[in-house]
Amino acid sequence: MAEIIVQDKLFHLRNARMSYIFRLTGDGLPAHVYWGARLETLQSPLDRLYFESREEDYCHNTMELEKLPQEYPTYGHGDLGRGAVELTAADGSTAVDLVYTGHRVIEGKPALTGLPASFDQSGKARTLEISFADALLGVKVILLYTVFDDCDIIARSAKIVNESGSPITLDRVMSASVDLYDAEWELITLSGAWARERMIDRRPLAPGFQGVDSARGDSSAQNNPFMALVRRTTDECHGEALGFALMYSGNHTELVQVALNRTARCQLGLNDAHFRWLLEPGETFQAPEALLAWSENGLNGMSAQYHRLVKEHVVRGKFAHAQRPFLLNNWEATVFDFDEEKILNIARRGKEAGLEMFVLDDGWFGHRNDDHSSLGDWQVNLKKLPHGMDGLADRIHALGMKFGLWFEPEMVSPDSDLYRAHPDWCLHQPGRARTEQRFQLTLDMSRPDVCEYVENAVAAILDTAAIDYVKWDMNRDMSPVGSALLPPERQAETAHRYMLGLYSVLEHLTARFPDVLFESCASGGNRFDLGMMYYMPQAWCSDNTDAGYRVLIQYGTSLVFPQSTMGAHVSHAPNWQTGRMSPLKTRVNVAMWGTFGYEMDLKELNEQQFAETQADIAYMKAHRDLLLYGDSYRLKSPFEGDTAAWMVVSPDQNGAVVTAVRMSSHPNERRERLRLNGLAPEKLYHIEELDTDLTGQELMHFGLPLAFEPGDYRSLRFTLETK
Ligand code: DGJ
Repeated sequence: MAEIIVQDKLFHLRNARMSYIFRLTGDGLPAHVYWGARLETLQSPLDRLYFESREEDYCHNTMELEKLPQEYPTYGHGDLGRGAVELTAADGSTAVDLVYTGHRVIEGKPALTGLPASFDQSGKARTLEISFADALLGVKVILLYTVFDDCDIIARSAKIVNESGSPITLDRVMSASVDLYDAEWELITLSGAWARERMIDRRPLAPGFQGVDSARGDSSAQNNPFMALVRRTTDECHGEALGFALMYSGNHTELVQVALNRTARCQLGLNDAHFRWLLEPGETFQAPEALLAWSENGLNGMSAQYHRLVKEHVVRGKFAHAQRPFLLNNWEATVFDFDEEKILNIARRGKEAGLEMFVLDDGWFGHRNDDHSSLGDWQVNLKKLPHGMDGLADRIHALGMKFGLWFEPEMVSPDSDLYRAHPDWCLHQPGRARTEQRFQLTLDMSRPDVCEYVENAVAAILDTAAIDYVKWDMNRDMSPVGSALLPPERQAETAHRYMLGLYSVLEHLTARFPDVLFESCASGGNRFDLGMMYYMPQAWCSDNTDAGYRVLIQYGTSLVFPQSTMGAHVSHAPNWQTGRMSPLKTRVNVAMWGTFGYEMDLKELNEQQFAETQADIAYMKAHRDLLLYGDSYRLKSPFEGDTAAWMVVSPDQNGAVVTAVRMSSHPNERRERLRLNGLAPEKLYHIEELDTDLTGQELMHFGLPLAFEPGDYRSLRFTLETK
């Protein structure tokens, strides 16, 4: 059971494994004390032993304050680091001095107004709501801290209330801030670009600022809203790891400031670049939620906390724990060049192979025969689909398959009826050129009328045709960002208001169509974040479907996200993004580590490959629960060597599937040994592919031989079952 112990001025949040502790100084500042393995008792001078001066020296209006590890620091009364909240008052002043005013402990986990937030259905989570106020400004800050019972994560958020009679301008609001006692950490981020998303980057902390951000309007392929701090010796299975993930899909920042006495101030929240928020008297600003994970069992340990969080406390609706259909998507097979007959032929072959759902991608509406037009005009193109969307959906259903459809609802093409009718409905700034990307503009989702249009346009199609799945795409960055509807003093609110508008549309649509499975996508993986996952249980990892690259992308993604969220499909070789040839077997083995499907015309396969595909899909069906919802472990990192390996273990530890991919062939090689993880040491496992029995202990300590065939991008799969 999660618990929150409040003793004198000390707040101790803990579950069976982890403790997070802070206290109030004599004059009401929140000081960070401890975050690590569960502490049974706490002697009060614990943290004070570390300080150079007496307790009373670390207080308001002393320059010693910056040596005090804090929980939500502010500028202007002694601390000189980056403030967690920065604002400008009506008189132009910028100092903020927050003093404790009260707290309460809440059973469970409150929702956040207008924003996605983790939830708790078990009734075992506990939340501390603690308030601070600046009496001079009349500003109140309410911090929430939730401790979960089943995962070692603290959810944090911040709310700012203007209780004064004058407006204030928020210049920066962090969701969480933690001052760690030392800076002997390495920083891990998931950084990259389009088609090579979430590459693992690891570097030691250095003095000054470091971290990642996005000011692109989406959470971005460049920098996922996540960072981890690990010790130099931390690896996949050993050592301390702290995770910081933001549940948000727009502009964000995650940063570490290594300060004068080598402490590390970690903060995450909305990116303050191009951000300002006018808070009128009586108004409240809610910052997104931050999820802080702790593990002493390496990166796999940290990932296990996030995976449990996502499965139990983030993904909602009927698909949260349900099977996902194995799908066939026509994008890489046809791009825009299709008609009903072609689509039905592709679907028929997919059905013969054993696939369960056909997804029609981009190009079914307006007069969209390439990417130059029609976004916003969500009317079916009857030249391509003469029987309408309902006609196509019925025909696909008659084959015995479910039917899914692609949308890109947040966008508008300059060549569209929507744009001609409402040129002001896109993000723009007065007098400036409207920067196009992929020949399209971004609709201004900060406007209620635009949100209403988007919601109705999608709902109209979902109401008329039997659609089981929606792929919600978003294919450009946002620049310049501005809204025709907001007054000048609120222009810098547009980017965040956009996200609030989008979240409300998603909330309405997912509630109105609870039987539809939603998959999010943004030029592949530009918006692979916890915010999107709250509405859509799975996300397309990347436009790069090349198995050799997907190994890296999925390996990085798995640091935070479980395989049940990772859209992964088998595609054609040579791959259209990288030109790489990889064996069909490897493409399947890699796509298995996600929500499985195909992104090709299966008629391209010869008879032998088709038979192999039927067998692969049958294998997937036989192991689908284990593969989708089992506990996953990374075993060998492709960022550190030539071999990647991972495995998935059933919760009862009676079954497992292990996969290894070797990037390049080396002659006269010694066989690598692959040590497994997560098995029951005493159980005897039959390894199907080797026709051998070994105990969990043998498999975890001695391991399996990796006897790859000669050739690049070869792979192995092992299926384990207890005897
Ligand atoms: C980007 C997506 O990632 C692709 O899968 C595809 O849906 C295209 N957009 C369609 O324009």
